[in-house]
Amino acid sequence: MTQIRPLIAGNWKMNGVKASLAEIAKLRLAVENDNLAAKADIMICPPTTLVSLFAEALKGSAITIGAQNCHKLVSGAYTGEVSAPMLADAGATAVILGHSERRSQAGERDCDVRDKAVATHTAGLTAIICVGETAGERQMGLTLQVIARQLAGSLPENVSGANTVIAYEPVWAIGTGLTPSIADVAEVHRFMRAELTKLRGEAAANEIRLLYGGSVSAKNAAELLAVTDVNGGLVGGASLKAEDFAPIAAACPA
Ligand code: PGA
Repeated sequence: MTQIRPLIAGNWKMNGVKASLAEIAKLRLAVENDNLAAKADIMICPPTTLVSLFAEALKGSAITIGAQNCHKLVSGAYTGEVSAPMLADAGATAVILGHSERRSQAGERDCDVRDKAVATHTAGLTAIICVGETAGERQMGLTLQVIARQLAGSLPENVSGANTVIAYEPVWAIGTGLTPSIADVAEVHRFMRAELTKLRGEAAANEIRLLYGGSVSAKNAAELLAVTDVNGGLVGGASLKAEDFAPIAAACPA
């Protein structure tokens, strides 16, 4: 298997206003000064209102911009929704899909995530598809079963390393400061690679990046990112400040 280039993506969730451009400028400086692009692809996923502004500001830099959700259709009478081609037009190159907050708060099911992923691919964007078990599911020993079901239900037919990234985000680790043991992260990532191979073949499975997400910080990043089959991180809280986020990218194994 060839070396997979890591991706460190920051999920800003519902945080950030135009003044946050100052933080983006700081991040750009840190990425350039420390040549972090040599270690990883670096992405920020701001709220939709900032996609265009950030994409413009980061033109010519190594940092790319992603969005956090999209509609499955291209246009129409869907008040309050945003489509994948609109996000592409605004300068996004990726869309986070099926984040546990959208699964639990907006009722997104695996089939919705798959439809959105197809729309994302059709718009020429990368789908960052999130999966992960709840605390209850882990306690009941259902983790791998849940991941298998989510992968089978959320993945479009045609996935490749160029159009798809999978993020393993245990629901109980998001925003809590808790993380699974390194052995547990390794087990789930190894399992996801094997499931991908079964579902979509070895070629795709060997190039799709598998991110870990859930309370990633500058403190734990080196250990988590060194795990076999962990090809980067999806970072929430610690992505909001350049001084917290840049060290996570710097922690990627050389
Ligand atoms: P966290 O969030 O890093 O704040 O735990 C991760 C995520 O929800 O993507």
